Amino acid sequence: MSPPEHFVVEYAINPWMDVSTPVDTELAVKQWEGLRETLVRLGHQVHVLPPQPGLPDMVYAANGAFCVDGVVYGARFKYAQRIAEAAEHRRFYEQQQGWTFVAPGETNEGEGDFAYLPDALGGGVILAGHGFRTEVAAHSEAQEVLGRPVISLRLVDPRFYHLDVALASLDDRTIVYYPGAFSAASQAVLAQLFPDAVVADEQDALSFGLNLVSDGRNVVLNSDATALAAKLRQAGYVPVPVELTELKKGGGSVKCCIAELRP
Ligand code: ARG
Repeated sequence: MSPPEHFVVEYAINPWMDVSTPVDTELAVKQWEGLRETLVRLGHQVHVLPPQPGLPDMVYAANGAFCVDGVVYGARFKYAQRIAEAAEHRRFYEQQQGWTFVAPGETNEGEGDFAYLPDALGGGVILAGHGFRTEVAAHSEAQEVLGRPVISLRLVDPRFYHLDVALASLDDRTIVYYPGAFSAASQAVLAQLFPDAVVADEQDALSFGLNLVSDGRNVVLNSDATALAAKLRQAGYVPVPVELTELKKGGGSVKCCIAELRP
């Protein structure tokens, strides 16, 4: 995670960003701290990546890379404003003992567009989004780098421009997603492969509920997503709401702030 000390909305690269909306950076930091403390309380270890002036979106740490079993597929950002973030993440991963960092050739925004299920369909499976940020060529590159099957899914609604605002893993094999964010063909693929998925609606997605992080039992999600929290409780999970109003102004929430490490 990387604290939003330099967070502002000075450019707009997704429909949620409005440069005329004031941002309370201090409140953003306070809310981010609440998220970090929640993770620690749930037993997770959190590494903090020092934020860099001039990189306001660095708080969305999920976009910096995607790793599976100690192999790290680096990010290559679509927009010029974020390109320099990739090197900050790369430095972190290269410092970890025993990890392998692989520089990307194709445009991809890390965990923003890649999700991992360790035990679905007979083993580890990667779900990957394209359509707005990550190029479909990065999906096959990720498959070659990480040695796990990649299922390509096409995003079609600009409000849900990354996979991680439309779909999330709840445990080793279960997902929750909003079908309307995907093309009809990709919806058919998801319905075929994940008949037991928790299905979210447009309101759940608009409240950034799907931008969640789960440990298989506790599901940390945006406190605005009350209806989705109820669905998750019904499905046997324990919703853990956190308030992240400021970071929503940049087009992100819980998951965007967290790069999950899979050593
Ligand atoms: N302002 C950032 C952008 O548009 C938000 C990124 C959100 N991150 C995510 N993992 N969905 O790139």
